[in-house]
Amino acid sequence: MERTFLMVKPDGVQRNLIGEIVSRFESKGFQLVGGKLMQITRELAEQHYGEHKERPFFGELVDFITSGPVFAMVWEGENVISVGRLMTGATNPKESAPGTIRGDFAVTVGKNIIHGSDAPESAVREIGLFFKDAELVSYDKTMNSWIN
Ligand code: TYD
Ligand code: MG
Repeated sequence: MERTFLMVKPDGVQRNLIGEIVSRFESKGFQLVGGKLMQITRELAEQHYGEHKERPFFGELVDFITSGPVFAMVWEGENVISVGRLMTGATNPKESAPGTIRGDFAVTVGKNIIHGSDAPESAVREIGLFFKDAELVSYDKTMNSWIN
């Protein structure tokens, strides 16, 4: 089953949006397979956003993502990478549609609440950067043997 890496950025944590964001992905029908509140080091931030190393906003981006705790997650489900991006909305909140996370909660491109992997290769790379295999849990909710 496809997996993606999602992360509530420091602005989303500060604004108490962890629950809202988890709830949207749960309600959609995706399954949480890993999650943790963590403080990103500069080294990890520079690796995670390596593709943007030469961009003028790179320094600010690393400063921002390391400025406070983030909530890192791995989600699983059919087309979760592309659908997760749709639910996240356009990078610049001035273009992200209402109903998307950025469209509903963000106004500036720097502080846009959430990160989501943009392709299968980046999902694998980002999951590997943030999580050990043992921190990810595969389980079948249809069995329900653990709640009744
Ligand atoms: P990018 O990977 O292009 O966007 P996305 O998060 O939608 O995959 O850029 C990474 C982050 O860098 C983006 O979420 C916000 C920040 N950023 C800026 O601050 N200024 C910019 O002009 C761009 C393109 C991104
Ligand atoms: Mg990106």
